[in-house]
Amino acid sequence: MFSRIAIPSFQNTDSAWVEIYLSSVGGSLHPDYRNEIRSAIEQTLTEKKSAEKVYYSTSHARAIGGFALSNRPIGFDIEAQDRVQNNTISRVSQNSEVSEAPTHTHLWTAKEAAYKSLAKFSQPTVISSIQIGQWTQTNHFKLTNESSFGAPEGCGITWTFDSHICAVYFF
Ligand SMILES: CC(C)(COP(=O)(O)OP(=O)(O)OC[C@H]1O[C@@H](n2cnc3c(N)ncnc32)[C@H](O)[C@@H]1OP(=O)(O)O)[C@@H](O)C(=O)NCCC(=O)NCCS
Repeated sequence: MFSRIAIPSFQNTDSAWVEIYLSSVGGSLHPDYRNEIRSAIEQTLTEKKSAEKVYYSTSHARAIGGFALSNRPIGFDIEAQDRVQNNTISRVSQNSEVSEAPTHTHLWTAKEAAYKSLAKFSQPTVISSIQIGQWTQTNHFKLTNESSFGAPEGCGITWTFDSHICAVYFF
């Protein structure tokens, strides 16, 4: 029931690969969405039989949800574009972050993915500690204060999917 979707402008390599799986049963409108996502992660990992460590991160919007798998520590976020509140984003962001980002929505999902990716490092307690910048034309971005959290330089990508926006950040 979960389908693997492609990330535009990103090519998997042997050294860094990312896979995204989404389904309507992973959305929070589904009565058992958490178990659906958990089972799909277990099944995908079992089928993969990967010799290397695989990291995962989950996210759910109302109508759709799912998970990212990677051989790198990873954070994944999905949001319905019409539910992201510009004033909330401005409250947790610096003016320069807002002006550099393609849209408020891109910045929000980038921050959430970068925040989650720090779970294996010194993750801050609030999202306002996360600084996002260095956006490219293909909506790649960087966590610009990664050293504050004991993390190496990473790589982030945002992309739209139907009426949703997604982001991953990985190290
Ligand atoms: C943790 C946080 C990123 C979750 O994001 P969200 O958009 O609310 O929810 P999502 O559906 O995208 O992701 C939820 C999943 O993230 C994962 N998650 C939760 N806390 C996490 C953390 N600290 N690190 C990494 N992943 C986390 C869990 O798998 C969770 O799934 P579950 O609810 O089924 O357990 C978000 O609550 C946050 O930013 N917290 C920081 C505190 C803060 O600054 N809050 C103010 C926001 S204005």
